[in-house]
Amino acid sequence: MKSGKIVFVCRECGATSPKWLGRCPECQAWNTYDEIEVSEKRRSSQNQKMASKNQAEKISELKMPEYIRTKTGMQELDRVLGGGLVDSSVVLLSGEPGIGKSTLLLQICRDLSITRKVLYVSGEESQGQLKLRAQRLGISGDSIYLLTETDLDNIISECERLRPDVIIMDSVQTISSENVSSAPGSITQVREASMTLINYAKSSGAAVFLVGHVNKEGGISGPKLLEHMVDAVLYFEGERTNSYRIIRAIKNRFGSTNEIGVFEMGDRGLIEIPNPSEVVMAERPKNTSGSCAGCVMQGTRPIITEIQSLVTKTVFPTGKRAADGFDHNRMGLLIAVLEKRMGLKFYENDVYINVAGGLHLDEPSADLSIAMALISGITDRVIPDELIAFGEIGLSGEVRAVSHIDYRVKEAVRLGFTKIVLPKKNVTSSLQVPEGVELIGVSNIYQALACMKMKKAD
Ligand code: TYD
Ligand code: MG
Repeated sequence: MKSGKIVFVCRECGATSPKWLGRCPECQAWNTYDEIEVSEKRRSSQNQKMASKNQAEKISELKMPEYIRTKTGMQELDRVLGGGLVDSSVVLLSGEPGIGKSTLLLQICRDLSITRKVLYVSGEESQGQLKLRAQRLGISGDSIYLLTETDLDNIISECERLRPDVIIMDSVQTISSENVSSAPGSITQVREASMTLINYAKSSGAAVFLVGHVNKEGGISGPKLLEHMVDAVLYFEGERTNSYRIIRAIKNRFGSTNEIGVFEMGDRGLIEIPNPSEVVMAERPKNTSGSCAGCVMQGTRPIITEIQSLVTKTVFPTGKRAADGFDHNRMGLLIAVLEKRMGLKFYENDVYINVAGGLHLDEPSADLSIAMALISGITDRVIPDELIAFGEIGLSGEVRAVSHIDYRVKEAVRLGFTKIVLPKKNVTSSLQVPEGVELIGVSNIYQALACMKMKKAD
């Protein structure tokens, strides 16, 4: 017999209702309401909380919070976190199965455990499996505790007994609470588990990593709801076909969301890649049409990228357009500019764009490299390998200035480029380059094309 109060919760967005609804009035999804029981114990603790109200204070009298950050031992991860793991914070790490979430979190236990007590809770693997993996990664230490448990109350009571400084919960979808009647992994269970762990983090000062699986659509199961509740959301992504992995923050209350961390999965776990530009350039094919090098800022770091385009005669009434690593609409806009301003007939062709190395370019500075890769693709002429181009393109074909120009130029020079095509406005006397490197300032795409000096492929 049910003793608590019954409420209905939308599986998609977490909206609640006292009665069952066929369609959620919040997110408009059909048939997503689950019945859950809220226990008396839980309700009374909620009521107690309501009684202790916070009082508003003057902003000038508020103290600056002091965030205590612990280095995880992985600089690539620390950068994405905003400089280290903050006490009392809750970080959601999500990604597809097999991408390396458990490996990364087990690896950071080693350095964290030097100064902190770490509890790794796994609901997916046995202690034996974890021990085996830890041994393979060379991880041991008296301050690392492993717990295989899926019951929320048991996990909390272990936390209260051990008082760890860092808790890793792998994964949040495997935990279930007796207070909630729905199955583990359902939104109501995920919400209950996350809420309890967040409250625990805030009251105990422990930092919590929650591992979240992504669903078929690429969202975290238990959708946006979880993202709103935690302090930081990190996505771990990569192609199954190559060993490179990129970690990016899509939300961070303690740092910027522009930074990325790059890793490579090897025999002994994840290895950091402090110079991603070199990795991208090492695999670049030489003397090929449709390819242009560019430089994008990912947070504070410039990364050299290679844009590849493939332009082929279409067999359809309208040509196909596909972009991997670049916004589809922006690609359409650049194609329209090239058609209108340069008379190129992209409409007779299928056009594909690919950004090498699995990067996502959401910065306007990639426009010029993309436009040049497209021109190279449609004319089947090769851009010299030693040339790099970056700049924003406007609708009349003008090339506009971009930010962080000295970082970009420095990185291009470091990687051995000797011809740097950039917006004319960015070429100032303070921009210094070594001898043998040419800075070519351009104001529009015609000038950019003229200085490319493309030649026929061998
Ligand atoms: P895992 O961390 O279990 O992924 P997730 O927790 O995101 O599901 O990573 C699993 C993959 O990584 C698995 O396919 C094996 C591979 N791997 C290595 O290549 N090298 C290693 O040292 C380890 C530990 C895993
Ligand atoms: Mg895992």
